[in-house]
Amino acid sequence: AEADKGPYPFYMLKEINEQPIVMRRLLAAYTKADGQVEMPAALLSALAAADRLYIVAAGTSYHAGLIGKPLFESLAYVPVEVHLASEFGYHLPLLSAHPLFIFLTQSGETADIREVLVKVKKMGAPTLTITNVVTSTLAREADHVLALHAGPEIAVASTKAYTAQVAVEALLAKALGDFKGTEAATKFDVTHWLSMAAAGQQTLIDQQARLHELATTLFAGQDRAFYIGRGSDHAVSLEAALKLKEISYVHAEGFAAGELKHGTIALIEPGTPTVAFVTDPLTAARTRSNAEEVAARGGHVAIIATSDLAEVGDDLVVPAIEPRLTPLVAIVAGQLLAYFTSLDRGYDVDRPRNLAKSVTVE
Ligand code: G6P
Repeated sequence: AEADKGPYPFYMLKEINEQPIVMRRLLAAYTKADGQVEMPAALLSALAAADRLYIVAAGTSYHAGLIGKPLFESLAYVPVEVHLASEFGYHLPLLSAHPLFIFLTQSGETADIREVLVKVKKMGAPTLTITNVVTSTLAREADHVLALHAGPEIAVASTKAYTAQVAVEALLAKALGDFKGTEAATKFDVTHWLSMAAAGQQTLIDQQARLHELATTLFAGQDRAFYIGRGSDHAVSLEAALKLKEISYVHAEGFAAGELKHGTIALIEPGTPTVAFVTDPLTAARTRSNAEEVAARGGHVAIIATSDLAEVGDDLVVPAIEPRLTPLVAIVAGQLLAYFTSLDRGYDVDRPRNLAKSVTVE
């Protein structure tokens, strides 16, 4: 059964390994034989009527929301704001005339999100919950629901639910773009790119030994670390750092690569582990020069680059796909680095201290 650990020592490793299967399952669930994305008509009409989308989420799901924003904006030409549920509940931003709320939540039970849902429903705004648990509270209470089809996720640190969220955002953004007839959506072959993402994830899963070695080299004996990148690499950095914090207790920060020099670079000391994601042709050179600034201060820099941008001496090469979807592949490196660091330290990978799989208090 899917809830069995099988040959894996921890659920987290099993769930990391399942990500390519989940990508293919999502393609089967949301596309037709001709490759067209299939989404409920009522949902597409509601989305097309909205002048702004508000993605509200917490933790890892919030990081998945950050990846969704450029997908919706570039494919469906609709502005998107991404908010932390725990902040949004108290400090409502000035809303647009026709907002639509998207709740991204693996469990569908996060209390911080429910509070926002109750508030915006009172205002009469349309709501969509994207969740792995279609029987959950947030699924039942929203106007529309989309399933993540990730299968049960047992490890507290979320992995396959995150990549499923990013994939569903891509499918939905494409469907909305097609529905609105945008030219950008026509050119975006989401079926092809999600298949490529699945293959790319598998390539990293097959390099576990290399990632274990990299984790040990970088983080052994270290109690803090940085992940840096620009654009979607920044969003991936936030998630990679969260994974490391959650299960290995290393104080990791995900940082916008260009912002490091405005203060935080003061923290770099000889040996400070700093992982740079270089997956976007637009920003690759800039991020590399930020990584050099860290190395010049003695930081222990590792570069994770896509094959199209890789240079001699890079620490890990990940398969290149459409830049907006590279997070689906790049994060697998972050997940495995966190997994092996926790393993090296002898921690219970699946049940980190102080954390719960879903948080039903505000
Ligand atoms: C908890 C979990 C996190 C998760 C967050 C949001 O804090 O430990 O892994 O990202 O809740 O959960 P959700 O179910 O709403 O995605």
